[in-house]
Amino acid sequence: MRHFVTVGIFVILMTILTYVGLSASGLMPVEASEQARSIDWLWDIQVKAIAFLFSLIVVPLIYSLVVFRRRRGDTTDAEHIEGNTRLEIAWTVLPLVAVLALAYVGAYSLAEVRRVDANAMVIKVTGIQWAWKFEYPEQGITSTELYLPVSRQVVLKMESPDVIHSFWVPEFRIKQDVVPGRVTEYRVTPTLIGNYKVRCAELCGTSHAYMESPVIVVDQAAFDAWISEQQRLAAALDTPEKRGEALAANNACAACHTVTGAESIGPTWLGLFGSEVSLADGTTITADDAYLEESILNPTAKVVEGFAPSMPPFPFTTEEVADIIAYIKTLQ
Ligand code: CUA
Repeated sequence: MRHFVTVGIFVILMTILTYVGLSASGLMPVEASEQARSIDWLWDIQVKAIAFLFSLIVVPLIYSLVVFRRRRGDTTDAEHIEGNTRLEIAWTVLPLVAVLALAYVGAYSLAEVRRVDANAMVIKVTGIQWAWKFEYPEQGITSTELYLPVSRQVVLKMESPDVIHSFWVPEFRIKQDVVPGRVTEYRVTPTLIGNYKVRCAELCGTSHAYMESPVIVVDQAAFDAWISEQQRLAAALDTPEKRGEALAANNACAACHTVTGAESIGPTWLGLFGSEVSLADGTTITADDAYLEESILNPTAKVVEGFAPSMPPFPFTTEEVADIIAYIKTLQ
């Protein structure tokens, strides 16, 4: 009995020390959304359980090694123990109760995270190799930065034209895959004004590590001002060249194609139009409208020599393709 009391006291002490140590180590970034609260609450419960289970294993182990070690000259066998019904019932029932309790708090937390606000603002998100694009259908604008008003739920309707990406803002805690062929939803209510970053959390190709965009949480007045500014900028796009330049920016064409003549993942756009292009199959082609259109809509049809066929097909409309080509023509 004395051993049990001693081990019990050490287990409690070790649990407290482990929990305090883990909590103080700052594993989590700041909590910046309503959804983060219930996730952090769940996380805290798990850290407590982990601290206790860790202590429950390590303390009796070390205690036994020290207290029941073989003394000098002791050659007797250890005591043989066969079966203990009460112990077996205990180690069956207690974990069962623990698992059921964790399932309950897990389901509760999930329901909190998915709580739907009927007034949520819709933002369409596209994850493409290798950039994020944000469309605000109610306001009629498109951006490469995700601006969010504080204390209002937004629902991101997310799509991918190429491979699986994953939308992850660590400060919001939640993460959601973006899957080709379906629309996935991500609901978040930012609670803390600040600058964050969305990262892609699914390995998606060459530039996966650079697939990140600013997430900026501002108050309602600053959000309205930003929207007006974006609408003003969109209205100023009154020529095909300007629209093409904006399309290129919003679709992260520059992630692979420079406009400076420098080599990148794809061929540079500087001096591209009208030039003679050497293809991987050994032929040469003139970069005219038809070639550029095909290369945007069906990039692997004609692969340029020296480059991997890694460009995804972009779902642009015919007008958008014409605008982008008009922009490329200006880069001479
Ligand atoms: Cu997109 Cu990784």
